[in-house]
Amino acid sequence: MDETRSSTTPGSLDPVLARLDPDRGRPAQVLETVGLNLAFGSKTVISGVNIGFQRGTITALIGPTGSGKSTFLRTLNRMNDKVYSFRHEGEVLLDAESIWSPRQDLLSLRRRVGMLFQRPNPFPMSIRDNVVAGVKAHGIARGKQLDVVAETRLREVGLWDAVKDRLHDSPYRLSGGQQQLLCLARALAVGPEVLLLDEPTSALDPLSTEAVEAMLRQMTPALTLIVVTHNLGQARRLSDQTMFFYDGRLVEHGPTAQLFDAPREATTQRYVHGLIG
Ligand SMILES: Nc1ncnc2c1ncn2[C@@H]1O[C@H](COP(=O)(O)OP(=O)(O)O)[C@@H](O)[C@H]1O
Ligand SMILES: [Mg+2]
Repeated sequence: MDETRSSTTPGSLDPVLARLDPDRGRPAQVLETVGLNLAFGSKTVISGVNIGFQRGTITALIGPTGSGKSTFLRTLNRMNDKVYSFRHEGEVLLDAESIWSPRQDLLSLRRRVGMLFQRPNPFPMSIRDNVVAGVKAHGIARGKQLDVVAETRLREVGLWDAVKDRLHDSPYRLSGGQQQLLCLARALAVGPEVLLLDEPTSALDPLSTEAVEAMLRQMTPALTLIVVTHNLGQARRLSDQTMFFYDGRLVEHGPTAQLFDAPREATTQRYVHGLIG
């Protein structure tokens, strides 16, 4: 198992300095896992994952069903914490601070590390209210400002023209692809730093998939994206880095082109060639 960091930092630099983002004095890795082990009851699902996520990049998480991708992803903003049997060892650091630190407030963690699910999940409220739901909950904007936020975010995801005349209608009559873009607008509205996406296009048709992928590409480097996908083509098209999980282990990670074209591990090679999984 290769557990070296995937970032390229000049070896001569002081390792602490090398980890700082020169512009903002923040760690260059927005998220980092250290010796992360995850389990449900006595069943270990992820073992010994050390990985850093470079700010402003897209990372794809690939691997067969049951290899632990979703569990790993959902841990990054503590979505598993409400599962009674869930256990974790090791650390997840957000800007070098543990996500489980008592100083960390769950609501603000979720604001900084947002999530988009496989199935679009608009709330049972109007299209406009969906976009601003989180903004209202966090007290980021109110009154007339909310209309500005709604329009800005809907334009950002390319949905404005399609919905501008039915902002007060139910979202459930939109197509699946449009519903997913609406959920994306809602996630973006609270200004996250990281967006976690669990197979965000697997319920969508090819055209909607293309629209969502195009949006995701535009979001970097302002945002850091971590995307679980079954679609190897999507991982290749979209991501800078790829992590390959197999049976709860991070078998290999690195720049996407390298992982697909010149994998170091035989298991990776068999997976990317469609021989397993
Ligand atoms: N809430 C849960 N309770 C118990 N076991 C779970 C739970 N969620 C996932 N698992 C188990 O963890 C393993 C990894 O699942 P998952 O992370 O969903 O894999 P993937 O996303 O790669 O398909 C599977 O064996 C699954 O059954
Ligand atoms: Mg999954």
